[in-house]
Amino acid sequence: MADITEPDGRTSATGSSNKSRHTKTARTSGGKGVHRRRFLGGMAGVALGAVAGAGGAFSLLTEAGKNKASAATNTATLTVPDLLEGTTSGSTTTFTLEAKTGTAEVVSGVTSSTMGYNQSFLGPTMKWTSGDTVLLNITNSLGEDTTVHFHGAHVPAKMDGGPQVAFSDGTTWSPTFTVKDEAKTLWYHPHALGTTAKQAVHGLAGMIIVEDDSTASSDLPSTYGTDDIPLIFQSLAADSSGDIKYNLTGYLGSGLSFPLLLNGTNVDDTTLTFTATKTRTRFRCLNASPSDIITIQRSDGGTLNQIATDQGYLTAATEVTSIRLVAGARAEFVLDLSDAVTLQAVVTTGWVRGGSGTYDVLAITASGTDTPDDLPSSLNTITRYDTSDFTARTITLGQSGATMLINGSAGTSMSSMAMISTTLGAKEIWTIKNSTQLEHSFHLHDVPYQVISINGEDPTGVDLGWFDTYEVVGGGSIEIAMEFTDFTDDTYMYMLHCHLLQHEDEGMMASLMVTES
Ligand code: C2O
Ligand code: CU
Ligand code: CU
Repeated sequence: MADITEPDGRTSATGSSNKSRHTKTARTSGGKGVHRRRFLGGMAGVALGAVAGAGGAFSLLTEAGKNKASAATNTATLTVPDLLEGTTSGSTTTFTLEAKTGTAEVVSGVTSSTMGYNQSFLGPTMKWTSGDTVLLNITNSLGEDTTVHFHGAHVPAKMDGGPQVAFSDGTTWSPTFTVKDEAKTLWYHPHALGTTAKQAVHGLAGMIIVEDDSTASSDLPSTYGTDDIPLIFQSLAADSSGDIKYNLTGYLGSGLSFPLLLNGTNVDDTTLTFTATKTRTRFRCLNASPSDIITIQRSDGGTLNQIATDQGYLTAATEVTSIRLVAGARAEFVLDLSDAVTLQAVVTTGWVRGGSGTYDVLAITASGTDTPDDLPSSLNTITRYDTSDFTARTITLGQSGATMLINGSAGTSMSSMAMISTTLGAKEIWTIKNSTQLEHSFHLHDVPYQVISINGEDPTGVDLGWFDTYEVVGGGSIEIAMEFTDFTDDTYMYMLHCHLLQHEDEGMMASLMVTES
């Protein structure tokens, strides 16, 4: 494995992800020996990246880290984001959001300037009901342009919150649409050109839960905050003064740290606690990190019962020992809790972090006395695409010095980005070819996709679900298939891009125009 040159000229390593991608049962680290490597100086980060490059893989970093291992010393109660109350009249529910600035303790003991929706950091969770209409009144109080994108939602391009619908400070954007999605976990975040990374890492992110009336939905836990729990992970970078980093300005300054947050709380040295009052509890995980990969596992090596990927239910609950989420991805799992369970997050570097780490993030106490029914044997019907008559396209993820490219074009402006043109009803199979040695997270707006192959291999297990965000390892490729349904527009475009937000801002984004045939 070679050193990887990030566009800024720094080296990093993409590590062993090639191997672990398929190995759902592989443990990323032992349950014991949790290591917490904090204040890593900028130069040290570079050096460790180089060591990993030369020595191969993260195991080296992990072993080095273990020597400095120290378990979490503190506990605090898990914060569950508020549920945003809408006002419903007829079949329309109206939500009010304000993107604003504030302060929060991202690094323990230090005050950082932050951004949030209706609060200082992160945003409330919205519940949308499949088939209903939602109207959002979103006011920008950031002092700069923003957009709000509904990541993973199947909505008209004009309502999707892409760069074309940026709105300025002091104005309100009011998208409205019918919720066509079935039950799934989505999220919302900014998407203005060049400022997505900055605004998202400062806290502009929130979860959306889509509910429907399927049998699976009624059989699964769904009481928000009681047995249906959001887990929003953010692996960030900040300097010792609390300045949250989104590019490498000032990177080589002293005291850079890589705080891991769970629902907005720093878990570097803290294990959060949650008392489960129901035996069966559902967890909705979102990796809202700008770049790092988060792998969720149990400290005892036990299994998680995964029920959903990015785009809704799997055909059946699937036992896995870990869930690997690239930046932007989601997954849901349930636990039947007869004893306490501790969840760990393994952070694998995707950007400046220069290493990996395992954190005990959530200690769950089992206090339920109920006996849940067996999990439904079938959650969903997923008809796998027969792609033999699908239209083929290649999307090449590239890099030229400090510029990131899709199909040779840097998407740093609407006019410079590559545009993919398709028509309503088109069925397509895309090869996403990573011609760089960097890790990317491929995200498509508008419609969900099936993964058809991963580095030449057939998908298995949970990879047979529906996705909107999927890992493409350095030098690797995936094939994905999708069908463009429902929405057309001659002016407004969807986006396809790397969800490593710095790469997106540096140009790894293209537009998608879906028109009538
Ligand atoms: Cu979550 Cu185009 O983004
Ligand atoms: Cu999106
Ligand atoms: Cu990328």
